[in-house]
Amino acid sequence: MVDGSVLVVPLRERPECVPFFARQFVLEWPAWYGPGGQGSALADLNAFANAAGDLPTGVVARTSDGAYLGVAALKAASIPEYSHLGPWAAAGYVIPGHRGQGVGAALLDGLLDEACRLGFSTLYCATASAVSLLRRQGWQLLDSAIHDNKPISVFSIKVATRGRRGADWRGCQATGEPQ
Ligand SMILES: CC(C)(COP(=O)(O)OP(=O)(O)OC[C@H]1O[C@@H](n2cnc3c(N)ncnc32)[C@H](O)[C@@H]1OP(=O)(O)O)[C@@H](O)C(=O)NCCC(=O)NCCS
Repeated sequence: MVDGSVLVVPLRERPECVPFFARQFVLEWPAWYGPGGQGSALADLNAFANAAGDLPTGVVARTSDGAYLGVAALKAASIPEYSHLGPWAAAGYVIPGHRGQGVGAALLDGLLDEACRLGFSTLYCATASAVSLLRRQGWQLLDSAIHDNKPISVFSIKVATRGRRGADWRGCQATGEPQ
């Protein structure tokens, strides 16, 4: 599990890590971000690091000695079938050698902090690969669907206003309440 030496901060506070994660995104999602793909990892990550702090916004996990571990984003929209819902937790990425140690969970908490700051009451996430992570973090399964010929699960979580992380926390938390 992640210990206290892992810090999650808004990506806009660490824009210097954008080129590093852009290279990682190309390796992780070559069909989308690689040569000939429709996406630009650099453009997406620069958008997640926007200095104004509005959507889209990102968070980055790093060690206390400055090594980058992972990144995740909060976006207004995700898959077209659910365009009536939002915002969405998306682009969750942890560098391969650090997976399975709680960094992804810490990034989700960071996104909840961002959602709280921006005044959202519910977050959504569509995933094929992180079902058990979302369940463990208290997200509720909302729907199952086929997207790009792959089965995906759509989850939601409420952002409530009672603190759980101590006096220095900003006062929001996720609850496991059904939507
Ligand atoms: C999904 C991801 C961000 C989770 O980060 P993480 O630090 O490994 O997450 P945690 O340690 O907090 O939780 C582990 C959970 O992540 C998910 N997971 C997905 N791929 C995984 C992998 N290769 N290794 C470990 N966990 C993985 C599982 O749900 C796992 O739960 P389990 O332990 O019950 O099987 C990370 O594995 C990753 O970057 N995967 C590749 C990119 C991706 O699929 N992103 C998801 C987009 S929705």
